[in-house]
Amino acid sequence: MSKDARDSFRDVAPNYAKSTFHASAVRLQEVLDLAHPRPGDLALDVATGTGNTAFALAPKVRRVVGLDLTREMLDEARKVAAEKKVTNVEWVIGDACHLPFPDETFDLYTVRAAPHHFADIDRFMAEAYRVLKPKHDAAFVDCAPPLPARDLLHEVEVKRDPSHVMSLTLDEWVGKLQRAGFQVERAEARELDWNYEEWMGNMDVKPALAAELAAVIESAEGQARKQLRPERREGKLWHAYWHALIRAHKA
Ligand SMILES: C[S@@+](CC[C@H](N)C(=O)[O-])C[C@H]1O[C@@H](n2cnc3c(N)ncnc32)[C@H](O)[C@@H]1O
Repeated sequence: MSKDARDSFRDVAPNYAKSTFHASAVRLQEVLDLAHPRPGDLALDVATGTGNTAFALAPKVRRVVGLDLTREMLDEARKVAAEKKVTNVEWVIGDACHLPFPDETFDLYTVRAAPHHFADIDRFMAEAYRVLKPKHDAAFVDCAPPLPARDLLHEVEVKRDPSHVMSLTLDEWVGKLQRAGFQVERAEARELDWNYEEWMGNMDVKPALAAELAAVIESAEGQARKQLRPERREGKLWHAYWHALIRAHKA
């Protein structure tokens, strides 16, 4: 049984507002390139966390609703919104698998770096489909390591963050989205050179556990090792990591 995401995220909210991955302009542009926001859109950013994706969308759309389960993440998002003087975003506490909105409310749906926490992935996709207006689009970005690296990383992920449920492979993403009713227009797995230490730091993982989990990655063998390519640079561990970048359409 995975731990509730609120227990994992409530004490680390400020880390996510400045994380190299989550706050990077290049990574946020990647979501905009997938999402194609339009000036009149009412957008929903699910599991918005500290609002990084919502803030990237805000200048491009009419209004953004940023939804998250964890109050402390939204408190941090509100603080950042005040600093950035962003006024067209509102913050809602809620669950991606039970969205508190009527059918066909939104012109655009986005979710980034979060579905691997969701307890019921099929229900989350059904909810995304339900709240999106017909003839509109959704952008899904989440960790998506290929097999067998996914299975090796799973052990690392659940110990790093006990609210981790499962990373889907790109093929699993596409199959499930199609079964939820979406037409998948673009789907790719993008690989990054991953800074292990910062990844652990985002979750304030204690040094002893970080060392134990580094050893799991560094002792990978066979195909998983070829995929992960663990390497020490100036003593610090780096390895490959993957995200699914998906644009899907509701007919
Ligand atoms: C890594 S952070 C999100 C990062 C953010 N989307 C971004 O692009 O920077 C993961 C977030 O997922 C949220 N979360 C986990 N399970 C959730 C659920 N079932 N419904 C809504 N939010 C959830 C957590 O509270 C946390 O804020």
